[in-house]
Amino acid sequence: MCGIVGYVGKRDCTQILLDSLSKLEYRGYDSAGIAVFSGGGIKTCKTMGRIADLKEKINSECSDLCGSCGIGHTRWATHGEPSDVNSHPHGNAEISIVHNGIIENYQKIKDFLIKRGYVFESQTDTETVAKLLDHYYDGDPMETIRKVLGEIEGSYALGIIFKDFPDRIYAVRKDSPLIVGVGEDEAFIASDVPAILKYTRDYYLLEQDEIAVLDNGKAQIYDKHGALLEKELKTADWDMEAAEKGGYEHFMLKEINEQPDAIRQTISPRISDGIPCFEECGLTAEKLAAYRNIFVVACGTAMHAGLVGKYVIEKLARIPVTVDVASEFRYRDPIIGEGDLVIIVSQSGETADSLEALKLSKRRGAQTLAIVNVVGSSIAREADMVIYTHAGPEISVASTKAYSVQIAVFYMLAFLLAYSRKQISLEECKRLTAVLESVPEKLGEILKSEKTCQFVASQLVNSENLLYIGRGLDYALSMEGSLKLKEISYIHSESYAAGELKHGTISLVTESMPVIAVATQHDLFEKTVSNAKEVKARGGKVIIVTQEDTEVGDDVADHKIGLPSIDDLLMPMLTVAPLQLIAYYTSVLRGNDVDKPRNLAKSVTVE
Ligand code: M6R
Repeated sequence: MCGIVGYVGKRDCTQILLDSLSKLEYRGYDSAGIAVFSGGGIKTCKTMGRIADLKEKINSECSDLCGSCGIGHTRWATHGEPSDVNSHPHGNAEISIVHNGIIENYQKIKDFLIKRGYVFESQTDTETVAKLLDHYYDGDPMETIRKVLGEIEGSYALGIIFKDFPDRIYAVRKDSPLIVGVGEDEAFIASDVPAILKYTRDYYLLEQDEIAVLDNGKAQIYDKHGALLEKELKTADWDMEAAEKGGYEHFMLKEINEQPDAIRQTISPRISDGIPCFEECGLTAEKLAAYRNIFVVACGTAMHAGLVGKYVIEKLARIPVTVDVASEFRYRDPIIGEGDLVIIVSQSGETADSLEALKLSKRRGAQTLAIVNVVGSSIAREADMVIYTHAGPEISVASTKAYSVQIAVFYMLAFLLAYSRKQISLEECKRLTAVLESVPEKLGEILKSEKTCQFVASQLVNSENLLYIGRGLDYALSMEGSLKLKEISYIHSESYAAGELKHGTISLVTESMPVIAVATQHDLFEKTVSNAKEVKARGGKVIIVTQEDTEVGDDVADHKIGLPSIDDLLMPMLTVAPLQLIAYYTSVLRGNDVDKPRNLAKSVTVE
């Protein structure tokens, strides 16, 4: 998704803007640009491609671009293909803007402006905002911005500069994130905290419809009526080290290896007297027990975490749980209302479909609980209750540690819910909680023995198609394994309920279609083994992921990945690690851009 940065201070802003943009690369982008007050006017340099391309263009074509106030942008194309002309900033010599989000009524505004003689260069929705600002501008930026905000519909974070006010940046947001950083005699805007960490840890979270004015290195924030606000200054507790690769070749590998700590940090503060406790989030055991139905709504990996949640909550607490893909949920007129709990799961807290599903649930009277990683994100702020996962920044597009902490939270909710609904005793609740607490150590062991996964990856690297099969919890894990592999290795893969294979899909099995069978559940082991044998009997290659104490013959699998044993119900906490590592090493062997796979964005803030 697009990234926005801005700087006002005493230093050379070109370098700061470029450096800050590079910290937002993880969001995914196809072009980049900056606009700087330089030599008495606004000068812009933008290009399709990476930040390195922008640097090159600045050096070769815009070397006179220097000043101490400017805005910058990384674009992830929505309206109009990636191209130089569609890149941001947009505007003219008088006004320049950068935008993240989508202006839904841009065509209407464009028609209005064309009738008044405006000529458009780009295919973007953003250019209509730049031209509308120009249309209304009468020397008063604040008034002009307010008029424009009254007319545009959709989601936006905007950074705006006016030639008449050379040391000033205006910033506004609605449904797209934006922060305002403050340092000594300098101020910043950014889509996310890592962009400013090198310069300051102090920042304000810009709320819906607030307008920030960064003037001569100072930041002031106003409400939409123009009243000056007293905002709480936040301090980021991430350090740059955490936001960098820490010696690993890729963020993804670093984040896979951070899982034991991330789980510890997420569960430990929520254990009281040996059982889960979410009272800090306003979620008491009594409140939890009273819900009629539970819905889990999310996208991608977060939705897969919800599938594990469904299984364990239903199994232990005997309450129905429905899991929905957010983009389907919001348009299927779901039967939800008072007495229901809707759990929205999101790493970024900014996923547009999940946010809209949350708003819909609230309108229908359901209580909403967000399981979110990014503090202060839109979903966290919109939900009635929030459980923050403490995974730290997840930079790699492929989600890994966020999934592990999300399922850890689901386990804790399931234990507490089961106990509060009298489905399990206090002793059993304590025992299960202790098993969960033992996960980080076991996971650490698995991560040390990554050689087997490297070997398996070497067996898969030339495949064009792959199947993942499993039953019950293992089916949910197969889905996550398959998504991980396809998104970073670009190998086509499908996950199948193992028992469904013979209802059609087995016809695809040949020796060039490897099958990864996930079989960690003792009660379903023999069933999945039968399906694996059916694959082997048809010439297919099978890799089985199972507990290390299970016997696997040559007629079942070609390779075995054995995992340390814990309660079957908690096996997903361990099973996911080899699936992530297989995807990672396959992608590395194929020479792909592991952390920034093609066509994907880290934070999907558009529908
Ligand atoms: O930030 P979110 O958790 O809401 O993101 C949801 C999905 O976009 C995300 O999990 C996506 O599927 C990942 N790239 C998968 O690795």
